[in-house]
Amino acid sequence: MNVLVLGSGGREHALAWKLRESQLTERVICAPGNAGIAQAAECVPVDLTSPAAMFELAERFDADLTVVGPEAPLVAGVVDEFERGGRKIIGPSKAAASLEGSKMFAKEFMQRHSIPTARFVVADSHESALEALSGFGLPVVIKADGLAAGKGVVVARTREEAEKTLDDFMNRNVLGRAAERLVIEECLVGEEVSFIVLAGTRGFVPLVPTQDHKQVFDNDQGPNTGGMGAYSEDTILSEGLRDEILRRIVQPTLDGMAKEGAPFRGFLYCGLMLTSEGPKVLEYNVRLGDPETQPIMMRLRSDLVDLLAASLDGKLGVVEARWSPNPSVCVVLTSKDYPGTYETGKAITGLEAAEARGGVKVFHAGTARREKDVVTAGGRVLGVTAVAEDLSSAVEKAYTAVSKIHFDGMHYRRDIAAKGVRRLKASADVRNSDRRTENPAPSQ
Ligand code: AMP
Ligand code: GLY
Repeated sequence: MNVLVLGSGGREHALAWKLRESQLTERVICAPGNAGIAQAAECVPVDLTSPAAMFELAERFDADLTVVGPEAPLVAGVVDEFERGGRKIIGPSKAAASLEGSKMFAKEFMQRHSIPTARFVVADSHESALEALSGFGLPVVIKADGLAAGKGVVVARTREEAEKTLDDFMNRNVLGRAAERLVIEECLVGEEVSFIVLAGTRGFVPLVPTQDHKQVFDNDQGPNTGGMGAYSEDTILSEGLRDEILRRIVQPTLDGMAKEGAPFRGFLYCGLMLTSEGPKVLEYNVRLGDPETQPIMMRLRSDLVDLLAASLDGKLGVVEARWSPNPSVCVVLTSKDYPGTYETGKAITGLEAAEARGGVKVFHAGTARREKDVVTAGGRVLGVTAVAEDLSSAVEKAYTAVSKIHFDGMHYRRDIAAKGVRRLKASADVRNSDRRTENPAPSQ
């Protein structure tokens, strides 16, 4: 089979790498790709906002299957274009992609279907937004309705910050048309989890749970980014919580979209907050997460092509998703000053040394080739990913690999998966103390 991957980030590198491993693929093509993807796939340029251009590319390479990485092509209607032309593609239609393309649509959809989420108000003018603010305490969350490349959500801690955000979004148009309408919502408290399912023409299959690290600095400080690292480990969710998410969130979302005439196919990403009142949806994405995909692909044992084809053929469940029980960790290396403005073109060294140990894979995001060198070409540059028998070992392995890599201004968080390691240690301590209570040490 010829498989086409659309996109150019770490997520697409992880997909291309896994697709390359499949027994079923002859050619893997990635558009536009990057310097790392070029080792697993043939990279060709494409305009990711033009469904016609992407379809033309699939025709040229006779792609039997296309996988879409980022949201922009989906919201632009690439899936509808492929379906009209009779080519197989994994992803939601333009109508179903509204779950990510419009935050107002997503929130009102959740309200219609009683899916747990934060209380909210929609505002379409500066005045009505200011008025809406008074209905919420602090912090308050302000979201641009449309796609804003990760810059559309502000968690405002003070009234001044909230008012400045409204001014930036609605009067100064810093996000353009994406912020013509806003969602203002209550700030939820708890741990965040990324829960992604692959939805097929019949049924769906959950992927292993992950946790992202959004803020640029350790201990969740500083501005939000696209994601500074992620890990996957089974106990991120207890079995009870996982069942509750499937029953109260995933199934009603898929049923609701089908009922509204826009059945959802492809990867549905539920960004969740585990609150004291149970899991609530922060946001939907209509695609795989980045960097979540990197640790997820490191744990996937099934043939990815098989799984994707099964989703289109109504055979999810017949073809099972099999996973390694071992946890995985991805540490993202960024350019200096990301997510602000940053320089590019810095030579990267140590890539081979980083991958020398088994179970380590360096996924490329913003990289390019300049003669013999691989150089930085974006804000998020690399995702150093490791899998090991337990989470602490995976963390150690990932950071040892990171220490081999260098480029001018390289920045990364030192605490990826630290929350997970603490949670596991706390539950081990509880188990040990239970054991001591059951079998107290003999008194003298
Ligand atoms: P998004 O750009 O929609 O992925 O949202 C970015 C991040 O903003 C989320 O991952 C959360 O960390 C935060 N966020 C969004 N909505 C809320 C909320 N209602 N309460 C607290 N944090 C939120
Ligand atoms: N890592 C969050 C996202 O992909 O939106």
